This record gives sequence, structure tokens and C-alpha cells, in this order.
Amino acid sequence: MKSIAILGSTGSIGRSTLSVVESFPDRFQVVSLAAGRNVDLAFEQAKRWRPRVLSVALESQAENLKHRLKSAGITGIEVVHGAGGTVTVATHPESDFVVSAIVGVAGLEATYEAVKAGAL
Ligand SMILES: NC(=O)c1ccc[n+]([C@@H]2O[C@H](COP(=O)([O-])OP(=O)(O)OC[C@H]3O[C@@H](n4cnc5c(N)ncnc54)[C@H](OP(=O)(O)O)[C@@H]3O)[C@@H](O)[C@H]2O)c1
Repeated sequence: MKSIAILGSTGSIGRSTLSVVESFPDRFQVVSLAAGRNVDLAFEQAKRWRPRVLSVALESQAENLKHRLKSAGITGIEVVHGAGGTVTVATHPESDFVVSAIVGVAGLEATYEAVKAGAL
């Protein structure tokens, strides 16, 4: 079983990666997810995959997500935000590898940290 972190989980590559994980539940599990501004999809992914850490772009979105998760009775997910949050997702100690699919420079720092941690 491999544990994966996905940077850009709400994008095209991120969603495709989750489809692969869905197809091979005995081979992969999700440990951490980083989305951008699509909080609705991030919420649905949190419900489905129950990552240990979930990051979104903005602090206000992270607060919104925390409330929604709490209202849905979902606990145990650390919700973080911004560049620091994305790095937290990329360097989660339980992750075996990282899928880096954030568009543009927003994903650079996290990708660099994942490479340094040997997860990419
Ligand atoms: N799709 C392909 O077939 C393909 C092929 C080769 C290379 N690529 C490259 O791979 C990368 C990803 O491609 P894609 O097609 O998956 O792109 P995409 O569908 O546009 O998805 C981009 C992802 O980046 C996230 N994101 C954007 N700004 C962010 C920020 N500030 N903080 C955190 N997350 C942020 C988006 O989150 P939200 O949606 O939640 O805002 C989304 O999850 C791109 O650089 C692309 O050029 C893609």
C-alpha cells in the first residue's frame, strides 16, 4: 500500500489521480490533499478520502471548510491554507510520494520541498 499526497487535487490531473486511487484501493491511499479555490470540490474530496491534511488557497476558505466539515460530523482532518499549507501537504511524514499538479508558480515551493524530502 502506497500513501500519496496530491498537490492540485481539484484540477484535471489531481482528479484523474484520484480516479486511479479509486480503481486500486488495495494499492493506494490518500494521506493529504491540496486544492486551490474550489472549496466545494475540496469538501467533497475530504468527505470521500478523509485525508489527514487538506489545504486550500485562502485562510477564509480554510475557515469555511472547517465549519462545513464540523457540521458534517467529519473530524480528524487538519485544514491548512496558503503556500505554507501546500508545503505541509507535500511533506506529510506518512506520504510515500507526491503528485505535483498545481498550475504555475503556486506549486513551486511545495514541489521543491517534496523533492528535498525525497517524496517526488
Ligand atoms: N492536464 C494535462 O493533461 C497536463 C499535461 C501536461 C502538463 N500539465 C501541467 O500540469 C499542471 C496541472 O495541470 P491541470 O490540467 O491538472 O491543471 P488545472 O486543471 O488547471 O488544475 C490546477 C490545480 O492547481 C490548483 N491551484 C491553482 N492555484 C493554486 C494555489 N494558489 N494554491 C493551491 N492550488 C492551486 C487548482 O485548484 P482549484 O481548482 O481548487 O483552484 C487545481 O487543483 C499544469 O502546470 C499543466 O500545464 C497538464
